[in-house]
Amino acid sequence: MSLLIKNGQIVTADSRYVADIYCEGETITTIGPNLSAPPGAEIIDATGKFVFPGFIDPHVHIYLPFMGTYAKDNYDTASRAALVGGTTTLIEMCCPSRADDTLAGFELWMQQAVGKSACDFTFHMGVTKFNDQTAAQLREIVSRGIRSFKIFLAYKGAFGIDDTELYQTLKLAKELGVIVTAHCENETLVAERSKELLAAGLTGPGQHHESRPPRVEAEGVHHLLTFAELTGASTYIVHLSCQEALAEAVAARQRGVRVAVETLIQYLTLDKTYAERPDFEGAKYVMSPPLRDKRNQAVLWHGLRDGLIQTVATDHAPFDFQTQKPMGRADFTKIPNGIPSLEERITLLYTYGVKAGKIDLHTFVNAASTQAAKLFGLFPRKGAIQPGADADLVVFDPNYRGTISVKTQTMNVDYSAFEGWPIEGRPEIVTVRGQVAVRSGKFVGQTGRGQFLKRL
Ligand code: URP
Ligand code: ZN
Ligand code: ZN
Repeated sequence: MSLLIKNGQIVTADSRYVADIYCEGETITTIGPNLSAPPGAEIIDATGKFVFPGFIDPHVHIYLPFMGTYAKDNYDTASRAALVGGTTTLIEMCCPSRADDTLAGFELWMQQAVGKSACDFTFHMGVTKFNDQTAAQLREIVSRGIRSFKIFLAYKGAFGIDDTELYQTLKLAKELGVIVTAHCENETLVAERSKELLAAGLTGPGQHHESRPPRVEAEGVHHLLTFAELTGASTYIVHLSCQEALAEAVAARQRGVRVAVETLIQYLTLDKTYAERPDFEGAKYVMSPPLRDKRNQAVLWHGLRDGLIQTVATDHAPFDFQTQKPMGRADFTKIPNGIPSLEERITLLYTYGVKAGKIDLHTFVNAASTQAAKLFGLFPRKGAIQPGADADLVVFDPNYRGTISVKTQTMNVDYSAFEGWPIEGRPEIVTVRGQVAVRSGKFVGQTGRGQFLKRL
C-alpha cells in the first residue's frame, strides 16, 4: 500500500511550502519536489489544496454514562464523524464514576473502542476517587500506555474528587510523569447557586449560566493551580471558557506553575444568548462551563493567537434534543450537559478563525493538532508532516463552500448547534496511517482499523 500526494501546499505548525508527500505503508517516507510512485500506488493531486497533519481532538466523550443517560455516539459513529471533519486521532475521557472500579473502568472504555473505531485513539484516565487501590490501578494503567489523567472539580457525587484526593492524584502524577487534565469549576458554589435559583422558580436553560458564572470557573482554575504549584505536577485546564479563568491560568504560569490551556470551538463561536433561546431550545446549548458573554470570544481568540491557550477541542458530548435534553425541562440542572461538535471543529476553526483573520494557518494547525500531540506524548508520530510520522493527512479544499446542517451530519445526534451556519473550506481527503478514510468529504474508511495509541 503506497500513496503519493502531489503538489499540495503543506502547512504545519511552523512551516508552509509546496511539495509532494510519499507514504509507504502506514508512514510518511519522503517529502520533496517531483516525487514519483511505484506502479499500483494511489496518486492524489492536491494542487490548490492545503495538506495538514491529521487533526487531534484532545477532549471527547464517546462512551459516556452521565446525568441519568448515555451520550449518543459510539466509536463507529463518532470516528466516522471525526474523520469526515478531518480529525484522525481522538483522545477520549475515560470516566468511570466514583462507585466504579478504576481498572475495570479503563477496560470497559477500551472495549468500546477496540475493533470499532475507524481512527486512532487513546484516553485520559479519569480519577474519580483516590485510595491505595486506585493508586495501584493507576500505576497499572500507566504501564499499559496511558500518560494523562482526568479529574473533575465539578459534578459532586458523580465524578468530582475532594481536596485530599486532588492532592494525592497530583502527587502520583508528578511521580509517574503523567499530565493531569482538569475540569475546573467550584462544585459547592454550583450546587448552592443551583438550589437558590430553583427555589426562586428560575428553572429554564438560561439559568444554567447563572448557576456557574465566570468566577466559579476562575475559582476552580485557581484552586487546581494552587495544588499544582505545591506538588509540581503538570496540568492542563480543559474547556476554559472565559477571561477570568484565563487570567488565573496566566498568573499561575507566570509564577512557574506547569499549566496548559484548552478552549473549545463552542466558546470561540457561540455565546450565552444561545442558551437563553425560548421554548426550551436553549437546552441544545447547555454545557459546562456554560457558554459565556460574547466579550469572552475576543479574549479566547487573542489567547490562542498569543500562545496563552494551547489547544482547541470539542468536549464532544451528544445528547438528543427530542428525547434526552427534555430530562431537564422543569429543572435546568437535569439537562444532560454537552454540545456536539466533533465533526465541525476544523471547518469552524478555519472559517471563523483563519478566514476571519483571527488566527493564522500555523496557529490553526498548532492548536488543532500539533500541541495536543506534544502535550500528550504523541509527537512526532502524530501532529507532524515529516518522514517517519504516521501518514495521517488532511487534504483541505479552501474553495469549498457549504452549510452546516443536521440533515447532512454524520454524528449520531438529532440536532446541530450550528444549523445553517456557512462554512468555507472542508477536508476533502483524509488518510489514517496511509489509507484513505474520507474521499470528496465522504467516509470511505474501515470501521475497526483505528488503533489504541500506546504512550510509553
Ligand atoms: O458539558 C459538558 N462539558 N459535558 C461533558 C462533560 C464534561 O464536563 O466534560
Ligand atoms: Zn468537563
Ligand atoms: Zn468533557
